[in-house]
Amino acid sequence: MFFASDNGSGAAPEVISALTRANEGYARSYGADPIMARVKTLVRQLFEAPEAEVYLVATGTAANSLSIALLSPPWSAIFAHVDAHAAMDECGAPEFFSGGAKMIPVAGAHGKMTPDTLKAALARIGEAGVHGVQRGMLTVTNVTEAGTVYTPAEIAALTAVAKSRNLPSHLDGARFANALVATGATPAEMTWKAGIDVLSLGGTKNGCLGVEAVVLFDPTKAWEFELRRKRAGHLFSKHRYLSAQMEAYLTEGLWLRLATQANAMGALLVQGLAQVPGASLLHPAPANMLFPLWPIGTNDRALSRGAIYYPMQGPEGVDHGRLVASWSTTGEDVDALLTALKP
Ligand SMILES: Cc1ncc(COP(=O)(O)O)c(C=O)c1O
Repeated sequence: MFFASDNGSGAAPEVISALTRANEGYARSYGADPIMARVKTLVRQLFEAPEAEVYLVATGTAANSLSIALLSPPWSAIFAHVDAHAAMDECGAPEFFSGGAKMIPVAGAHGKMTPDTLKAALARIGEAGVHGVQRGMLTVTNVTEAGTVYTPAEIAALTAVAKSRNLPSHLDGARFANALVATGATPAEMTWKAGIDVLSLGGTKNGCLGVEAVVLFDPTKAWEFELRRKRAGHLFSKHRYLSAQMEAYLTEGLWLRLATQANAMGALLVQGLAQVPGASLLHPAPANMLFPLWPIGTNDRALSRGAIYYPMQGPEGVDHGRLVASWSTTGEDVDALLTALKP
């Protein structure tokens, strides 16, 4: 009954086996290992992006903040949804690594910016000459912090607004595989074909131990990224262990298989909510994360019966929670949770 987060899940057996294999003998350090060369080839093939550069780090915060720093000068504005992880949950790391760029919150229902809310933020910022921050970049999250999903067309509409101001765009894909499975989009459709310049490609939440890739679709700034990663202390010496995780993750569709299971369990939960009297959803839940509303007392009952999820502050007069399914969630886990929720 563990639904607190998808990073509460273990690592997939395929990833553990790959680590055991990578543990044999010796390998060159700092990303010069042969597995990393194969990871780069895999990413280029999967994203139909032969020019792309690929780097690995161990956390989503590192992937986001180094990517964002790459695209935003110290005096610039980073446009992000008001609830974006990079804005709210990374302790100012993107601002720190950029040397002082400023997060500008963009409104939008259900965790999603729209071209209009982005245009409104762009109109408000960057007009104060030398006194104000200058427009810098856009960062979009998919799956969003509300558990909703942008289609490639919705991302393209946002990046088009950014491009109309000559701003680059980053995608926080901590749950990128879940977004692909939810939309049926290809990796290329969800990223560079939709105007994304840099992607944080998550692995940790979806079956890896701890690895995220940064994919630069335009390699012009590759060397700068390498310097930033090293300077931030995120260049691993025993890099082969990061490479091995990412190779296993992307091989033979493992990433999509794991995300398919997580999303299927999310869908089962949505369906099962019909059995919980008075339950509804605060946001649509097409992937693996749900924000249910239910009668007061439901959280106390379920949590005292051993369910693990985050009770949330929500609308007055109801209980509210955040539930996240992962690659290792089973139908039995969902049934047990539904039983714990029912009076
Ligand atoms: C959308 C999103 N982006 C980035 C991250 C950051 O990942 P990490 O906790 O590995 O730094 C998270 C983690 O919860 C997340 O949910």
